[in-house]
Amino acid sequence: MQLTILGGGGFRVPLVYGALLTDRHEHRVDEVVLYDTDPGRLHAIARVLQEMAAGFEAPPRVRTTLDLDDAVTGAEFVFSAIRVGGLQGRTCDERVALDFGVLGQETTGPGGLAYGLRTVPVARHIAGRIAELAPHAWVINFTNPAGLITQAMQQVLGERVVGICDSPIGLGRRAARALELDPDRTALDYVGLNHLGWLRGLRHDGRDVLPELLGDAALLEGIEEGRLFGADWIATIAALPNEYLYYYYFTREAIARIRGSAQTRGEFLLDQQEAFYAAVAADPDSALAIWRRTRAERDATYMKEARALDEARDAVDLEGGGYEGVALALMAAIARGERTAMILNVRNGAAVQGLPAEAVVEVPCAVDGAGPTPLATRPLEGHMLGLLQQVKHVEVLTIRAATERDARVAVEAFALHPLVDSVDTARVLLAGYRERIPQVDALFA
Ligand code: G6P
Ligand code: MN
Repeated sequence: MQLTILGGGGFRVPLVYGALLTDRHEHRVDEVVLYDTDPGRLHAIARVLQEMAAGFEAPPRVRTTLDLDDAVTGAEFVFSAIRVGGLQGRTCDERVALDFGVLGQETTGPGGLAYGLRTVPVARHIAGRIAELAPHAWVINFTNPAGLITQAMQQVLGERVVGICDSPIGLGRRAARALELDPDRTALDYVGLNHLGWLRGLRHDGRDVLPELLGDAALLEGIEEGRLFGADWIATIAALPNEYLYYYYFTREAIARIRGSAQTRGEFLLDQQEAFYAAVAADPDSALAIWRRTRAERDATYMKEARALDEARDAVDLEGGGYEGVALALMAAIARGERTAMILNVRNGAAVQGLPAEAVVEVPCAVDGAGPTPLATRPLEGHMLGLLQQVKHVEVLTIRAATERDARVAVEAFALHPLVDSVDTARVLLAGYRERIPQVDALFA
């Protein structure tokens, strides 16, 4: 079984390969094709994988290519984890917004829209090539902003595109552990869009145990979300928000903290990642050790602006297992028909009342050989539904602006985003992004 990874030179690819190495099932991935636009990155990651495979019996073969058509041909699964414009682009997404006093972040707020604008045409081109060359392949999309990009790709490929993210499962695991329950024996009542959702229930042995956590400030303080939002606010809304809701509930504080630090997340990663690829090129024999060190540093500083200055991250959160775990479980369920439940980004259908059927939502799904089916969710409180509807509308506008190359629609998307506080700001944001990011400018030129 061939797995193709688009963005195969990306830093998190070894996580996926590491998970594949532990899979001993008869029907498993035996060939990994890494596709990237940058041969240097591809080479560095291939070196890391080579070292990882040492000592394993019959590890998946790894092949690299710079040719998209070659990469997707023969694939049963395609993971898409590309970053159009690179980390350089991410720094512009952040800075342009921050310079105008609004949130500058990878996926949330106007930064996420700028990222979405330049990624949609590339993602749709990829979808078109897959439709032609690997029409039966399943596409697992990690490419951010993941909900928006999954929806754009579904317009070409239909429901064979499934978006994934590690944050809902991470949240569910932390909630279960806080109650000293086995995360694998709990079911999550989670609902939202990617990076914009809430855990509203946690079932264990048929009983909802979440109220016990929400009502216990001391237990809440023991997990990242509890410290982030405060026990009082969590009790007020009676749900545990995804960590990305920090940017909505504490917008001012988030902006102030990001602007107050010497580097944005993108700027930190740009330096860190450049150093990583250079170090591997200089010393290929140490590729795996360099990767491990760099990864530990990256994970330890994740979403730093949302934590107290001296707060170290929980050991269990640093262990990971989220991103690659979700991807592998999804693939296993589809390829082998192993029925399972997981939170995925899929076409809504009738799962969330109040959102369009074709909207991609992040909800619990039943997965089997036929793919994921979203499970029905309970009706949402007004403040939640309103936020989801508005942000989804903005995502749809962003996709339209990028596909129709319509700058007016792009301004509309920025202006209607809940984290952009004026239509004039929307206009200067688009102008700023066009000035700083060639791929955004090219769309409307
Ligand atoms: C989480 C999110 C991803 C996001 C990443 C950013 O894993 O689910 O969607 O891209 O964090 O992490 P970074 O280390 O790049 O700041
Ligand atoms: Mn994510």
